[in-house]
Amino acid sequence: MSIHDELNGIRERALQQIALVHNLRELDDVRVAFAGKKGELTAVLRGMGALSQEERPLVGKLANEVRAQLEKALDDRKVVLEQEALTNQIASETVDITLPGRQLYPLGHQHLVNSIIEEIEDFFCGIGYRVVTGPHVETEYYNFTALNTPPDHPSRSARDTFYVVDDSCGADGSITTGVAGESNVLLRTQTSGVQVHTMESQKPPIYMICPGAVFRPDAADPCHLPQFHQVEGLVVDKGITFGDLKGTLDAFCKAMFGQDRATRYRPHFFPFTEPSCEVDISCGVCHGKGCRFCKNSGWLEILGCGMVDPNVLSMSGIDPEEYSGFAFGIGVERVACLRYDLPDLRMLVEGDMRFLRQF
Ligand code: DAH
Repeated sequence: MSIHDELNGIRERALQQIALVHNLRELDDVRVAFAGKKGELTAVLRGMGALSQEERPLVGKLANEVRAQLEKALDDRKVVLEQEALTNQIASETVDITLPGRQLYPLGHQHLVNSIIEEIEDFFCGIGYRVVTGPHVETEYYNFTALNTPPDHPSRSARDTFYVVDDSCGADGSITTGVAGESNVLLRTQTSGVQVHTMESQKPPIYMICPGAVFRPDAADPCHLPQFHQVEGLVVDKGITFGDLKGTLDAFCKAMFGQDRATRYRPHFFPFTEPSCEVDISCGVCHGKGCRFCKNSGWLEILGCGMVDPNVLSMSGIDPEEYSGFAFGIGVERVACLRYDLPDLRMLVEGDMRFLRQF
């Protein structure tokens, strides 16, 4: 084979292979195979010394042409491959913003009891009440005595009230009663004591509610919890009547349970109100006809209330001749049960996520 043919052959094969490579690495392999130190074209150029005087310039010209062509083809292909590589990289790195994200942690939310308290607060704040707080640990005076509860009232017994015994106060555990083993410090059994704190610290007009935890030595069962929540309410102003109580609590019941629910006021006894009532709303399941949910009565008890007893007003330094008032106490867990037909109060405190996620 003449050296001409050899050079033309090299050109043809090199151009073919350059056209077929898929990437820059393959392209470099082709460059090394033809134009590298040990490449085919380099070998031919090295052999030029053996050529005759006449042949050398002709072959040299062709060889330079071939080399220039090869270099141009390599450069052109390189540009194309680089552009391709960039396009592929951009395509593979594209973020698909339509892809739904993965949620790492389910978002938490307010507990049902707290959201009901907030709803009750919203209603009463909307009609001009203030939200106040009071201590969980009370004295007998605020929890019972100032609320007109007689000394021998059964609710004062250790069976119905958690008394706090502070060991540091004496070998016998007594605090201030002077009676060995007895304490006059307790976990409040009701939020009603906050009525007294409020009346002691504030002059009428008073329009307040106080939400909070209360404690009673009951074993947890479907209808009892040793710790639950109440919202206390107190109004003291000039000329407050039972009509004000009824108008306020009727509006509250309808706001909480629906405009179609009826209310009824049943006479009851609380030491701190006179007269006192329990308020029922018509059963939402049977609409008053009677069913299992309302124990066939057509009614569900929802709160206690009454006109503030004049003794309570005067013990807290308010003249009952000048002012009158009403008070009420709402059981928050009870509202939750009635609203959502809960069969067991313990569901509210067990922390079962399947239950909690529903609200
Ligand atoms: N403290 C009462 C209870 O725990 C509820 C209550 C009833 C509060 C009547 C009141 C009221 O303020 O007037 O059962």
